[in-house]
Amino acid sequence: MEHRQAIKIMSVVGARPNFMKVAPIVAAIRERKRTGRNGAIEHILVHTGQHYDRSMSDSFFADLDLPTPDIHLGVGSGSHAKQTADIMTKFEDVLLQQRPDLLLVVGDVNSTLACAIVAAKISFDASGTRPVIAHVEAGLRSFDRTMPEEINRILTDQLSDLLFVTEESGLNNLAQEGVSSAKIHFVGNTMIDSLLAFKGKADQSSILDVLGLRKNGNGCGPRIKPYALLTLHRPANVDTREAFLEILEGIADLSREYDIVFPAHPRTQKRIRDFGFEQYFEATEPGNGSGTIRMIGPLGYLDFLCLMKSARLVVTDSGGIQEETTCLGIPCVTVRENTERPVTVESGTNTLAGISKQGIREAVTRQLSKTFMKKPPQNWDGRAAERIVDIAVATFERETACASC
Ligand code: UD1
Repeated sequence: MEHRQAIKIMSVVGARPNFMKVAPIVAAIRERKRTGRNGAIEHILVHTGQHYDRSMSDSFFADLDLPTPDIHLGVGSGSHAKQTADIMTKFEDVLLQQRPDLLLVVGDVNSTLACAIVAAKISFDASGTRPVIAHVEAGLRSFDRTMPEEINRILTDQLSDLLFVTEESGLNNLAQEGVSSAKIHFVGNTMIDSLLAFKGKADQSSILDVLGLRKNGNGCGPRIKPYALLTLHRPANVDTREAFLEILEGIADLSREYDIVFPAHPRTQKRIRDFGFEQYFEATEPGNGSGTIRMIGPLGYLDFLCLMKSARLVVTDSGGIQEETTCLGIPCVTVRENTERPVTVESGTNTLAGISKQGIREAVTRQLSKTFMKKPPQNWDGRAAERIVDIAVATFERETACASC
């Protein structure tokens, strides 16, 4: 590695769940600059364009105070192979041009793996110099290789030089896979950094009023009508008629008891149209217990966080929402057979329902009958990004010192 004053860090985002994981790292770098701490950092933000709708991407930049990406690859949707290959081809040019010291990839989406592969094989000079590859959210495993995300996780971890782990299971999984412990750092969860940083701001969201979920009057008792929050987007759950219908039947009782607010991912909206499921999702007045689900478009970060904070129950197939509800102490039913985030189940807020209607019904009843204490998992304290930046800078300083001695 050539000797330079500043460390050049490149971070990659591509899809919705990446934005809240990178935002605190950008903020930690900004803070380091502001306070003039040792180790100047030049930071470059690359957006692959895997997600491109305003509601899936731009609105998160605004909500999370993220700067406009320095480089946008404009890749868009496609099959896994095409999307991954398009990102790789475009990202190779970017890497060769920018020559960062450290490449930071987050999570488990196609953009994560695509950029890690390119960086692992690139050569900036005749001696084979390439960036240090750092994976944020390393070590999570569902042990289900039918999930594209599991393939992305395993391969990204194998290619990474620095592995930043969010929960203890990650340490065990990486040890099982033979990853050297010298590369692994249990730093906590940058998605939770964002949640803690923006939870206050989320209270200012008008989404509860917009959806008519606030009670009028000054009487005592809760001022928010009880509602459940639903998200579904996994191909295994929404891409076949049978699987999707099974889930809808699983939550039918819940929808007669509570309003269900459903901010639907674009792929899910498309499936609803394809399968002619519109009758399950009528736009109903709140509180009429009609058995239909109130479908709305994807929400921005602050609106969604606001809805999550006050929900009676969350039903989801997302990975990140399992963690966010754990941190908030909100009961969560995960419509999957497995989770790569076991700490959320151990904490009690999350339960795995499976994908049968019976399993979902039972899980809903189980979660509604409990009350939870907020007890965040180890290191979910809002300081993960700070630790990551400190370790990145220390690694760079060690390497430059070695190169010049
Ligand atoms: C991706 C991630 C998944 C993550 C999810 C969060 C992979 C393999 N999957 O899945 O882990 O949980 O993001 O949302 O990387 N679409 C739009 N507008 C957009 C983006 C997507 O309309 O801005 C539609 C397109 O029809 C596209 C489909 O959604 O074909 C799927 O998008 P894609 O990025 O391939 O995967 P996700 O299902 O979003």
